[in-house]
Amino acid sequence: MAKKERDQEITLKTPDEIAKMRVAGKLAADVLDMIGEYVKPGVTTDELDRICHDYIVNVQQAIPAPLNYGEPPFPKSICTSVNHVICHGIPSDKKLKEGDAINIDITVIKDGYHGDTSKMFHVGKPSIAAKRLSDITQQCMYLGILEVRPGATFGAIGKVIQKHAHNNRFSVVEEFCGHGIGSRFHEAPQILHYYSKDSDKLIMQAGMIFTIEPMINQGRRDLKIMPDKWTAVTKDHKLSAQWEHTVLVTQDGFEILTLRAEEAEWRSTL
Ligand code: MF3
Ligand code: CO
Ligand code: CO
Repeated sequence: MAKKERDQEITLKTPDEIAKMRVAGKLAADVLDMIGEYVKPGVTTDELDRICHDYIVNVQQAIPAPLNYGEPPFPKSICTSVNHVICHGIPSDKKLKEGDAINIDITVIKDGYHGDTSKMFHVGKPSIAAKRLSDITQQCMYLGILEVRPGATFGAIGKVIQKHAHNNRFSVVEEFCGHGIGSRFHEAPQILHYYSKDSDKLIMQAGMIFTIEPMINQGRRDLKIMPDKWTAVTKDHKLSAQWEHTVLVTQDGFEILTLRAEEAEWRSTL
C-alpha cells in the first residue's frame, strides 16, 4: 500500500477473527498455487486475471478485494507486475514472453476478512539476474517474518530487510509498505521495509495481523506512477521484485497465514 500520513488504531484480533483470517489466508495462497500452470509464454495478464477472478468467485465463493478498490477504482481482480513494474500492475491484453518475471498479488475476502499474498513467477527460463533478484527478495520477506514475536519492535523488520537487500547491492522501495489487515484491506500499522527510528516506537503484540511485502529493485529505488494512477514502475526501468505474506503475531512468535505447501522448507533457503 502507499505510505500515508494519518495513523489509525491497531486492532488485536479475537480468536474468532483469527480463525476467519486463517481461512482467508489459505484461500489467497490457494489462488497462487492454482494460477502457476497458466503462467506461460503467450498468455495475457488479462487471461490470468479472468482465471483467478472466476476461481475466487465460483470455486472459493469469495470476493477479489482489488476489484473497484481505491480511487480511481482498481479495474481488475488481481495485480500483475511484470519486470520493471514495482507493484499494482493492471492486467492487460499484453502477452507474457519467455524470460519475463511477474509478481501476481492476490487478495481475497471471505466471510468479511482479507487474505493478502503475492509471489514471483518466471516465464520459461529466468535470466540469472532476475532469478537472483527474486530469490533475494523472497529471503528479505522471510528474514522480516523471523523478527515477528510479541515484544519485538516493527523497526526490526525493516532493519533486516534493508540489510539483506543492501548486502546484495539492491535497493528498497520506500513509497509502499506492508499493512495491518483484517476486516479492512489496509489497516494500521504501516510496515516499513527499511529502517526508521519511528518504527522502533511500535511494539508487536499477540493477535496483531499484518503483511510483510518488500519491493526490492535491481537499480535505484526511485519510482514513477503511470498515468493510470496505479502502476508503479522503476524510474531507471531496471527490474523490481516483490513477495508478500500475511502474518499473525502468536504468543511465542508468528504464524504465516498465507503459507503454501511448496514453501514447507523455507527456513533452509536462508
Ligand atoms: N494487494 C496489494 C497489497 O499488498 C494492494 C493492491 S490494491 C489494488 O497491499 F487496488 F491495486 F488492488
Ligand atoms: Co498487502
Ligand atoms: Co498484496
